[in-house]
Amino acid sequence: MTQPNQPSQPSSDDPFVDHRSMGAAGPDPLGLAEAAAGQVSSADRAHLGQLGTSAVGTEELLRVDNLSVDFPTDDGVVHAVRGVSYSLRSGEVLGIVGESGSGKSVSSMAVMGLLPRSARINGSISFRGESVLDMPPAVQRSLRGRKIAMIFQDPMTAMNPVHTVGDQLAEAVLSHELMPKRKAMARAEEALAMVGIPQPKQRLRNYPHEFSGGMRQRAMIAMAIINDPDVIIADEPTTALDVTVQAQILEKLVEVKDAIGAAIVLITHDLGVVAGMTHRVLVMYAGRAVEVGETDDIFYRTRMPYTAGLLGSIPGLDSESDGRLRPIHGSPPSLINLPSGCPFSPRCPLASELCRQEEPDLMATDVMGHVAACHHWQRLAEADDPTAFFRTESEVSK
Ligand SMILES: Nc1ncnc2c1ncn2[C@@H]1O[C@H](COP(=O)(O)OP(=O)(O)O)[C@@H](O)[C@H]1O
Ligand code: SF4
Ligand SMILES: [Mg+2]
Repeated sequence: MTQPNQPSQPSSDDPFVDHRSMGAAGPDPLGLAEAAAGQVSSADRAHLGQLGTSAVGTEELLRVDNLSVDFPTDDGVVHAVRGVSYSLRSGEVLGIVGESGSGKSVSSMAVMGLLPRSARINGSISFRGESVLDMPPAVQRSLRGRKIAMIFQDPMTAMNPVHTVGDQLAEAVLSHELMPKRKAMARAEEALAMVGIPQPKQRLRNYPHEFSGGMRQRAMIAMAIINDPDVIIADEPTTALDVTVQAQILEKLVEVKDAIGAAIVLITHDLGVVAGMTHRVLVMYAGRAVEVGETDDIFYRTRMPYTAGLLGSIPGLDSESDGRLRPIHGSPPSLINLPSGCPFSPRCPLASELCRQEEPDLMATDVMGHVAACHHWQRLAEADDPTAFFRTESEVSK
């Protein structure tokens, strides 16, 4: 049974919209702000663990529309990002999840205006309704760090080893605002205290290498929040750290976000990290968004086999209790010569002839506000445990 009994759901060009406001009629590309009213209900929040009582507002801060990024190289054009769209509302935490090389960093570097000149960027990015790509470089620079701040994976490359943590934090303030250094240092101390660094006044005088990995990552968060940004893009902010420290730092990040009233884009290759941390999740594969929905729906009403595969590979989330992790076999396709059809088809246990011929667009599913790029999403809707598709395959192949 490979043909889904699919209702004539319109394929959505506007997958990032919370479709809870669409009704049965299908996408409502212009209902963006209204869609924001589909914010996480208090019942939903009960599932969101650490997000506590934080509310998602109605104001759209960041909007990425049909973003594509190509890199011409000697080997051919790398199609790193292929038509990604999302929106981020005030107070919201959006997770962007996908394997290494799926275009997560490139899409956020585009938002930050940090891509190399060789990059060919198409589509639009707007911050509070203003087009970022059309801003003069000086305006883009002032947006960066002040209104949109980024936290990188490796603080050792993002921090300068020859300056103290205090000087670097103060410099982050002074590059956007004129004030006496003493006052900037006071802000730096306050920021270190906010991210949970003990004895912040003394710590200002330390060099980055005198901090532990976890403390350095906290200092990076302090750097990101010091100018009171509206949006924080955290690109695999805790990947290098052990699991306990990761959890503490992400919890702190969400706590600080609430204190300063920011929204977060949390990028990770680990779907497990976004549970309890995000309101919504966008799953990326081969440069595209392949599933977008409320976090609970991504976990409990999965409609895309790739996401199901990721779920099956998270420790402790596998619904069969043998505790074995099942990585998805194979590797992502080359972004220079993409195969025809669905880019996941070579690895997908549900792949059919249709899948090998036609790349599916994101389409509405039976779950309101939840879109998936899969011809056969209905088979996941019918399955008790979508991760079992991967299990069956691995058992059969033994
Ligand atoms: N400057 C560049 N030139 C050519 N290819 C690049 C460049 N930067 C990134 N890429 C490619 O774009 C793809 C997406 O990369 P990236 O966004 O960093 O992935 P990730 O999801 O791991 O963050 C990868 O195939 C990567 O090799
Ligand atoms: S469209 Fe892609 S993900 Fe969906 S069943 Fe076909 S190959 Fe799998
Ligand atoms: Mg990356």
